This record gives sequence, C-alpha cells and structure tokens, in this order.
Amino acid sequence: MPIESLLSQKRKQVDKEIERYFPKNPTESDLRKICGFPRYAYDLPSAKAALHTPIWELLDRGGKRWRPALFLMVAEAFGKKSQTLLELSIIPEVIHNGTLMADDIEDNSDFRRGKPTIHKIYGEDIAINASSAMYYLPLLALFKNKSKFPQTTIISAYEIYSQEMINLAYGQSFDILWHKGKNANVTEDQYLQMCAFKTGTLARMAAKLGAVFAGASEKNVQLAGRFAESIGVAFQIQDDILNLTAKEDYGKEIGGDISEGKRSLIVIRAISKLEPQKRRRLLEILDSHTKDNFKIGEAISLIRGTDALEYSSKCASKIVADAWIEFSKVLKPSKAKKQLEQFAKYLIERKV
Ligand code: IPE
Ligand code: IPE
Ligand code: MG
Repeated sequence: MPIESLLSQKRKQVDKEIERYFPKNPTESDLRKICGFPRYAYDLPSAKAALHTPIWELLDRGGKRWRPALFLMVAEAFGKKSQTLLELSIIPEVIHNGTLMADDIEDNSDFRRGKPTIHKIYGEDIAINASSAMYYLPLLALFKNKSKFPQTTIISAYEIYSQEMINLAYGQSFDILWHKGKNANVTEDQYLQMCAFKTGTLARMAAKLGAVFAGASEKNVQLAGRFAESIGVAFQIQDDILNLTAKEDYGKEIGGDISEGKRSLIVIRAISKLEPQKRRRLLEILDSHTKDNFKIGEAISLIRGTDALEYSSKCASKIVADAWIEFSKVLKPSKAKKQLEQFAKYLIERKV
C-alpha cells in the first residue's frame, strides 16, 4: 500500500481514538471522565467553546498524522500488533497539534491547513490555553492503559514524554530567538540541533513510545529514537524548502518563513554564499518581518541565486539515508520494516 493511503487509513482510526478521549460535543459525563467528578459545578458550554471546539477546528482540518503512523510502524517492526496500541499512538499527534497552535502565535502566522490560524479566529487567550491543554490531554490514554503494561514500561513512557517536551521547548526557544534576528551567526550545526529539538522531538517520542510499548530492548528504543530524530530533522529541512517553493495546496503562507525572519539551513547557506551587498539585503529583508510579497520575492530570488535550495535538499536526503542504514540493521525483515523505509523517503519527497 502506498504511504499516502496508509496514512489516510490510519488517520481515520487515530481521529476516532482522539474523539473517544476528547469528544467534539462533550457531555457532563465526558467532563467527569476527563477531569474527575466536580466538587462544585462544571460550565459545560464554556468548556466546549473554549477547548473542544477550537481544538477540533484544527484537528478536523486534516494534517498528515504521520507521528501516530510512525509510532505504530515502529511497534510493528519490533513485533507488536499495532492495533492494540492505536489509542496510545494519539499521544504525539495531539501534542503536535497543540504545538502548531502555539507556534502560529509565536510565528505570527495567518494560515494553517488552508484556513486562518486558530488564534486569528478564537483569540490568543483561547489558543494559548487550548494549546497547553493539548500537551497533557492525550496522557489520558496512558492513565487508562497503565494496568496493561509492566510498571517499568509505564515509567519509561512518562520519562520519554517529559524529556521530549523539555527538548521541544528548547528547540522552539532557539527558533524564536533567531527569527528575532538575535543571533546573526547561527551555524549549520546549531540549526540542525534546533530542528532535532523542535521537530525531531515528537518524532522521537512517537518512535520511542512505539518501541517501549512493543517491549523492545533499551538499546533498540534508543536506536528507534535516533532514527526518528533524523527523519524529523530532514522533514523540517524539506518543510523549509517547501515554504519557499510550494505552488498550491500548501495550506500555509508561501514565503512565510521570510516574513518570520527564520534562520533555516537554506538561509544560513545562502548567507554564507552571497556577496556582502546581497547578503546585507537578504538579512535586511529577513529582519524587517515584512509581509510585502514583492520583498519576499526579492529575498527568494537572492536565495535562488545561490545553491542553498539544492544544498539543503541533498543534506535532507543524506540524513535520511544514513539514519536508515543505521536503524535497518537492528530490524528483522517484515512488512513494517519496508513501510518504514518508504515512509522516511516520503517525508522528504512530499510536496505538502
Ligand atoms: C508541520 O508539521 C510543522 C513542522 C514540524 C514542520 P506537519 O507537516 O506534520 O503538519 P500536519 O500535521 O501535516 O499539518
Ligand atoms: C513548527 O515549526 C515546529 C513546531 C510547531 C514545534 P515551523 O514554524 O517551522 O513550522 P510551520 O512552518 O509553522 O508549520
Ligand atoms: Mg511556524
């Protein structure tokens, strides 16, 4: 089955699981399941308006749902029937959607998945709170399943969750400081580390949880995490390339990374290759946070005048190829192993 079909098939199942824990139209009894029996009284319509509706507005717009797919493929590659872990695979996906909601405020973005960003519709107060809730809500699946696994597995799961959430915040912190133009000398290695944290962490969380719940050895859990981190980094590089080159169906602002002043690998490479006058002009546009399409186009032309796009694309392909060589060694031949290989390629060849 092609990877796109596998993702859309899994997407339906994953969304059903999310809805089971976090309904679109909650009842009083749903709120009791989520928060416990009220000591005083719940305001159900407000909970729905401020949390359930904006969260489902974003979830229902789509998204690739590749993090649960990665979770399940890794679990299967380590010999566990993935269907039994479906509800646990929602953990990285709900968190991911929460990070998008916060990231769109941090990046001052107007569009997500083809529609206005959640804070533009509901306000920053609602979006910040809903986004934070999404960092914890999917843990309900972990509470509910804790008696089905050895205690050591559950402790490892909490540890993976906490460590990756810490690293995610560090990743975003670098990205935010750099888009403010606060570090004019970001190196390629610093960029790659930022991606390993901001994008690699949820991929790592997905793969490590998949491996842990499949009962893989500690060494194999680490290797799964390392592989996922690499594909996360390559995925981010491809995302940065698409931001400057996408045509249609992109769903976000094309050239939005220029307005935000992002120091992507493409920008770092272009800056190192441009002659001083053009370099100064590119930095000036990036630091002005302009939404003027003419200036954004000028910045993209300056970048296109260098090898930055091809260089970044080659870098992403190499990261994935090297990561697969390392990880594939520990996996026995299986359908899931083949899917994982195809999946890693899909993430860097995708157009949306
Ligand atoms: C977008 O992630 C944010 C990045 C980490 C680059 P995705 O491209 O996975 O977002 P959706 O879920 O498919 O919309
Ligand atoms: C998104 O990073 C990463 C997280 C939300 C943690 P970006 O800012 O690069 O992704 P887009 O372009 O908004 O999707
Ligand atoms: Mg962003």
